[in-house]
Amino acid sequence: MKPLILALALVLAAPLPAQAAHPRPPRDLRELAHQHGIRIGSAVDIAALRAEADYRKVLNREFSHVTAENAMKWESVEPERGVFTWADADALVENARRNHQRVRGHTLVWHNQLPAWLTTGVENGTIGATELRKILRDHITTQARRYKGKIRAWDVVNEVVNDDGTMRQSIWLTHLGPGYIADAFRWAHRADPHAKLYINDYNLEWNAPKIETTLSIVKDLQAQGVPIHGIGFQGHLGIQYDYPGDWANVMRRFADLGLEVAVTELDVRMELPVTPEKLATQAEYYRRALTDCLSVKACREFTVWGFTDRHSWVPGWFPGQGAACLFDENLAPKPAYHALLSVKKG
Ligand code: XIL
Repeated sequence: MKPLILALALVLAAPLPAQAAHPRPPRDLRELAHQHGIRIGSAVDIAALRAEADYRKVLNREFSHVTAENAMKWESVEPERGVFTWADADALVENARRNHQRVRGHTLVWHNQLPAWLTTGVENGTIGATELRKILRDHITTQARRYKGKIRAWDVVNEVVNDDGTMRQSIWLTHLGPGYIADAFRWAHRADPHAKLYINDYNLEWNAPKIETTLSIVKDLQAQGVPIHGIGFQGHLGIQYDYPGDWANVMRRFADLGLEVAVTELDVRMELPVTPEKLATQAEYYRRALTDCLSVKACREFTVWGFTDRHSWVPGWFPGQGAACLFDENLAPKPAYHALLSVKKG
């Protein structure tokens, strides 16, 4: 072999340096997600998506997964009985298709944001248990079928367990009995056999009674052969509380049951006013959350509940708190955004 060729052969055969897989730091969250082999998502405010070009631009540049913040909830899609209003949900799905984003369907069965015709009918007794069960089945079937093949994962049931580990006394539990959960998964699976079907909840990052009950619900469903594929951790955190340091272990306990794991609604709120120290703490919480997800092989999706402080549910729901997102009101990236970009593989 000629010396030059030999030298070349040696160079080519040499093991790549550790960081060679990532020759340069990721330019945005989409690239970061790609490097890590996951999807990073955001909840989408449809009004903002339609009206604000800068919002649209950042959403479609940064995120490879989306969830409708409200547009797929029952009150949004069937405000009057039998009157379906799919325009917003359709717009989200179409925007996702055009921008190569996968979609999380949120949510088929919940106790909140139900249409008034339904809650009133149940309260005044004009809708009895038999009819209610049929209404739920039709709702799940209609919605899951409409988006068949376009939804990567559905939050089939949302927030069915209380913080003390008892089952939530929703209209579903009180009128249909505990079997409604298994029914919901079966109906959803029949309507869209390829969608990953999730159970989703908050405080599951740390709350022991809720964790234990949710684990036993999953085992119970699996024992009955019910199609359940994923566990969603909402991840509504606040810097006034300790970071949930056991979160990765909790994720692993669900992964050990064979479930896919997703962070579905992450945000990190703070008591206002904003200070540089608080933003630094917030950045650390975001960084740890992503690191926890990446430490669990089954964690496939990391979704934030809105990406900009311009449109966040936090100030409206937690008085005196806010600034929970990765971008500020002007869509400037905050320290939390840069903290996510700095997370290395392995
Ligand atoms: C919230 C939305 O962000 C608000 O706009 C709406 O007014 C209420 O619901 N857990 C969930 C989400 O599963 O659907 C909730 O979204 C936040 C808590």
